Amino acid sequence: MGLTSRHLLGMQGVPAEDIQLILDTAKTFREVLERPIKKVPTLQGKTIVNLFFENSTRTRISFELAQKRLSADTVNFSTSTSSTKKGETFKDTVRNIEAMKVDMIIVRHESAGVPTFLTKISKANIINAGDGRHEHPTQALLDMYSIRERLGKLEGLKVCIVGDIAHSRVALSNIYGLKAMGAEVSVCGPATMIPRDIQKLGIRVYHDIDRVIAEHNVLNVLRIQLERKAGTSIPSVREYHKYFGITAERIEKYNNNIVILHPGPINRGVELTSEVADGPYQVILDQVTNGVAVRMAVLYLLGTMN
Ligand code: CP
Repeated sequence: MGLTSRHLLGMQGVPAEDIQLILDTAKTFREVLERPIKKVPTLQGKTIVNLFFENSTRTRISFELAQKRLSADTVNFSTSTSSTKKGETFKDTVRNIEAMKVDMIIVRHESAGVPTFLTKISKANIINAGDGRHEHPTQALLDMYSIRERLGKLEGLKVCIVGDIAHSRVALSNIYGLKAMGAEVSVCGPATMIPRDIQKLGIRVYHDIDRVIAEHNVLNVLRIQLERKAGTSIPSVREYHKYFGITAERIEKYNNNIVILHPGPINRGVELTSEVADGPYQVILDQVTNGVAVRMAVLYLLGTMN
């Protein structure tokens, strides 16, 4: 039994069985990461290109480590040192990389839809590492893994995604993935940061963070994406923090069993305080560790299906 698609472009339409398979496979790789020698020969002979057209710390390093842990040959592409600076088109860049016989392409791009476009011009397996405001599927998978690790299940859990939903690819991937796994999903934030009609995805919308903390098992707290003009949706980050910031006082008053996730990078003192970011309710660095295992699982399952 394997995955139903040879690409991972998003969580939309990914069946629960595929998600379950990825999470269960990741659990095996998570154990490999605890060994003194954290390496298996699974993808020996496979060549993987990391094509990052946008900044990244966690996702790029995590994919690269996952590839090395699986013994694949990896190449990193950086826009700042590539011939795109001389005017080469995206399509020509990809065709030239493809001509070097690569098996998989991991792509992050500021434009939504680029990973899907790549499937039309390349024979490689394509994995979306974040495309514009669209999707970030491996982030949602590692979030689900981390929730399941902490709470033992996903089905029936009440999970709220808090913050800048409108500018977030993490939100959409989490909504699709969590719903497929039977969680009750909601979003919370200022009205200006919640897309109109988002309820049509089968989720609830809240604007009262105290009520959200009281009524949910998990909060996935998103970064206010100032670089994507999120700052124009709120009067000030101070005001955002006052009404929607996650603080230890709020957690202790309303629900000290809550589990806090954050995909990173964190704006300390904006979406959550340092006390929460480093405190007992969060699993933020577990998410990062689990991200390597989840990406190993995705690479393994896609890389061995050809
Ligand atoms: N969570 C996430 O995608 O972080 P990076 O932008 O650092 O990869």
